[in-house]
Amino acid sequence: MSAQDDNELLTRVGPGTPMGDTLRQYWVPALLRSELPERDGPAIRVRLLGEDLIAFRDSAGRVGMLGDHCPHRGASLFFGRNEEGGLRCVYHGWKYDVDGRCLDMPNEPPESNFRDKIRHRAYPCREAGGIIWAYMGTRTEPPPLPELEFMGVPDNQIMLQKRLQYCNWVQALEGDIDQSHVGFLHSRVADHGPFTAEEAASYDSMERYYKRIDRRPRYSMVDTEYGVMGCATRTAGGDAAYYRVTHFLMPFTTITPPGAEADPSRSIRSWVPMDDESVMVFGISYRPTRPFEEREYQRLKTGAGANWVGEDHFLPATSEPNGRWKPQASKANDYLRDPELQRTGPYTGIQEFWAQDAAMQESMGSIYDRSTEHLGTSDAFIIRTRRRLVDAAKALRDGGVVPPGVDEPEAYRVRSVQVVSPSDVPWMTATRDLIQVVPGTNPGGAALGLLRQV
Ligand code: FES
Ligand SMILES: [Fe+2]
Repeated sequence: MSAQDDNELLTRVGPGTPMGDTLRQYWVPALLRSELPERDGPAIRVRLLGEDLIAFRDSAGRVGMLGDHCPHRGASLFFGRNEEGGLRCVYHGWKYDVDGRCLDMPNEPPESNFRDKIRHRAYPCREAGGIIWAYMGTRTEPPPLPELEFMGVPDNQIMLQKRLQYCNWVQALEGDIDQSHVGFLHSRVADHGPFTAEEAASYDSMERYYKRIDRRPRYSMVDTEYGVMGCATRTAGGDAAYYRVTHFLMPFTTITPPGAEADPSRSIRSWVPMDDESVMVFGISYRPTRPFEEREYQRLKTGAGANWVGEDHFLPATSEPNGRWKPQASKANDYLRDPELQRTGPYTGIQEFWAQDAAMQESMGSIYDRSTEHLGTSDAFIIRTRRRLVDAAKALRDGGVVPPGVDEPEAYRVRSVQVVSPSDVPWMTATRDLIQVVPGTNPGGAALGLLRQV
């Protein structure tokens, strides 16, 4: 991206900026439902798209998302009393409901109708897939929620986690659709040594094997109703090709292929900007056809799995926005990199998978200056995704055009896939039926050529 103006437009999300207005056209994942577990429980701080907000669950179970500062004289509603259908500012007792109406103004004369003139900033919220979604746009009637597959499965088939990352949301999102980093950043030292016939025969996951033998995937991509779909093609020996199809879904969601096993769990991520310099990463794992088993929960809780931080690898919780989701490994401690380990273990010397990504993305600077980069052919998916975002923001700003996918919730019913196919079958043909969500099915494993046949 050469034009500095486009970099500004791409990265800035505050109210009134072109990208900020664009993101506000969509439902935004704001909180996990588990963060507001009880009616009339304590309010919590939220920071979303550069705005400070306060969320609470009222006596009827409805979620409210109000501006932080009380419209009377600006005290924070974080300290408010959550009681009897609203949040009451503890400074002078003014009370607001989830729609921002002032229900009570006990320090004014009883005959005063002043409270009817007050309307506090309030964003509608909905709950689906274990997530509280907020709509921060201008429509009186918000658009429908996107129909992502996990939003249609029972709670016991979903696992959710958040983590806070300190950089601009776009460079973080770009890291997730960048397929060619995987063979380096997430590899182990042994993956780069001489490749013996014995070692080749030892791979039971063909996914790892193909990534090992071909580190220069070829990319192709198409624009879709929801964003961009891209395929990385690697050689799979003989007349076979190994296809990996990844999605970018407007405005900040990514879906990458599940593991090579049969009946795999699937995962998606949303890279939600808290502001221009911090991003809240929503990690969503789900099983399309059955509940998670206890051992699967336990495995993820230890931090196994991309983008999953071990449960006890967070700093002690604070009441700041997302203060519960700050990982221990950070810029301040070089992500716990161990130079000794780097000789024999992970290529980076950084143990945790998500931290390998975070180290690179945060090291680019809080808002990466794209005028200094040099993009290669392996960056094609990233270029296309930026273009889609920038074009959407300009079209909304200049012509009031509704961005892609806002009014097409069913377009979000897609899966990511990896498959081995005869190389003369084009990737779109080979993957067409696997990309659509078919409830009750979950193809994977040997059927897709991903495990060594014995
Ligand atoms: S500042 Fe909130 S009631 Fe006065
Ligand atoms: Fe990565």
